[in-house]
This record gives sequence, C-alpha cells and structure tokens, in this order.
Amino acid sequence: MSDRLAGIRQEILDGISQLSSSRAVYEFKKKFMDSKTGKIGQLMKEMKTIAPEERASFGKGVNELKEWANRRFDELDEKMRARELQRRYESEKIDVTMPAEMAETGNLHPITQTRNQLIDVFAGMGFEIFEPKEIENDYYNFTALNTPKDHPARDMQDTFYLSPDFLLATQTSAAQIHAMETRELPIKMLAPGKVFRSDDDATHSPMFHQMEGLVVDKKITLCDLKGMLDMFVKKMYGEGTTTRLRPSYFPFTEPSVEVDVSCFECGGKGCKLCKGTGWIEILGAGIVNKKVLENCGIDSEEYSGLAFGIGIERVAMLKYGIDNIKLLFESDLRVLRQIDDN
Ligand code: DAH
Repeated sequence: MSDRLAGIRQEILDGISQLSSSRAVYEFKKKFMDSKTGKIGQLMKEMKTIAPEERASFGKGVNELKEWANRRFDELDEKMRARELQRRYESEKIDVTMPAEMAETGNLHPITQTRNQLIDVFAGMGFEIFEPKEIENDYYNFTALNTPKDHPARDMQDTFYLSPDFLLATQTSAAQIHAMETRELPIKMLAPGKVFRSDDDATHSPMFHQMEGLVVDKKITLCDLKGMLDMFVKKMYGEGTTTRLRPSYFPFTEPSVEVDVSCFECGGKGCKLCKGTGWIEILGAGIVNKKVLENCGIDSEEYSGLAFGIGIERVAMLKYGIDNIKLLFESDLRVLRQIDDN
C-alpha cells in the first residue's frame, strides 16, 4: 500500500514540474483531490475495504499524503498567480509620459459669449430676460415706438418687409412695447435678439444681434441711466473706464443720447481704435418718450422709463479686436478658436 502512496506522490511531483498556469494547477489538483474522482479521494473511499488492523496506518498515510499534496498545490497556485499578475502588469503597462491625443472640444460662439457676458452684468442689476420676436408687425416695430408711417426716422433703418404689414424686426426696441403691454409695473427687462436690415459692409450685416434694456418705474431719470451704463462699462471693459453721453435723436426716447465709453485701449489719450478721440461709441439710449408710455397705456405723469439698445456684434468686435463683422459669421475655426472667454 505504501508503494501506491509513494507512486501517487511521485506522480504529483512529476506532474507539477510540467505545469505553467494556475488553470493547469487547478485541473491537475482535481485529478488527485476531487473527493469522488480524484486519486487521493478514491483512497479515502477504499478505507472501509482495508483490513481493520491496517486501517489506522493506512488512514495516517493517506492523510499525510493529502496534506502534503494540498500544500504543494497551494504553493504552486500562489506562485502561478503571482507570475500571471506580473505578466499582466507588463502587458498592460502604459507610458504616462507619452503626450496624450487631444480631444477636440467646442466653445461658444463669440456672439453667444458676448451676449452671455452682457446678460451677466445686467442680471446682476436685477434685469429679467424678455424674448424679442424676429417677425414683427409695423405697429410694434415702428408706430408704437413713435415712428408713424411718414416719419423720416423710418429711413434710418432699411427694412425687410414681408408684406405691407409684417416685417423682419429691425430693432429689439419692439420688445419694449410687448413688455409694457404684458408686464406688471415696475419693469426691468433685458431683451437679447436677432434683428435684420438691408445693410452690408465691413461693420454691418443684414442679420445682427441687439440687446434692448428697459426700466419703467416711478422717478426714473437720466442719472439712473448714466449710473447703470457706468457700471456696465466697468464690468465689460475694465474698472478704469467710464461713459460720456452725447445728445442724439431717436423717436422713442426724449431726451436721446449716444453713449461713448472711454477708450479701453489707450485709456483716453487717443489711439487707432478710438480714432484719436479717446472715446468709442457703444450704444444708443435715452428716457422713454412719454408718447411711447402712453401708447402702452402707462400713465406718463406717474411713471417714467429709461431704455438702451446695444449692438452685440459691435461690443464683440471692440472687445476681441475684430475689424470685419464677416469674421463673426464665417465660422472659420482659426478665428473661433482664439476667442474663448468662458
Ligand atoms: N433701436 C435703436 C437702433 O436700433 C437703438 C436704441 C437707441 C435703442 C436708443 C434704445 C434707445 O432703446 O433708447 O438703432
């Protein structure tokens, strides 16, 4: 019997030296240790057929063999697993010093970036967004804004008419009327939108963007307008900048002003950007004409308003040093990639 045990032991020793993976160790181990089919498992079963006087020493021998074999298999399994892990580390090794392939990410269009910056500044002063319409009728775009049919100011804007009554909005000022007709007083609204005019050169495009501001409340004066605009230019063009109001004319404001910002390029000394004047024109504004308030059923004795209209392309062109408006519409990635203020 001990020959049989020694034989199995030798078989294990011979077999083990051939094994090269933890999977093979597992299979090989099963051949011996499986309680039903394994060679050592079978020896345990034979126990009852052994003569009683030999049973104790047989049992001891089988147990010793079993323990010895288990230890061998465990040791070998551990060694194989460690080797396999090492091989995996090596095959999956990455060189962290290799330059990564850059993933292309998009950014917002300069017009959108500028619009968002403007909204941020005015939202901070309590303005709410009001959506202007792109198609208007004559009443909202002109008549209610104190610009009746034969008014010479209609020539200031080359309108795209869709029909005798409908047109593509030429100015976001039309949103003032919609806001005053539908909102409770007081009003503090900002209307960013697309506008259209038959006009096309280096600084004009048939479609462009404006942002209208309107405040209607008791005792609104030009001082409120000046204060808000000063705050706006400081946030947009730097703390050192300020505004200057020049008299102007718009039918829907009285008085009307053109607003200049002190040149943020030269600090007001005079340079190419400000054409030597130290000032750059940025927007039109004024105190809402009483006739406009009354057209919207607002008591112009009790309430007054201020309004301003900003050209978003103009603000973007000044801010990013763009001298041709077409660059904002061509979607040339070489241009768009350079402008990322987000
Ligand atoms: N709507 C004018 C334009 O498109 C801009 C403007 C001027 C808007 C004065 C205003 C304003 O609200 O008060 O030229």
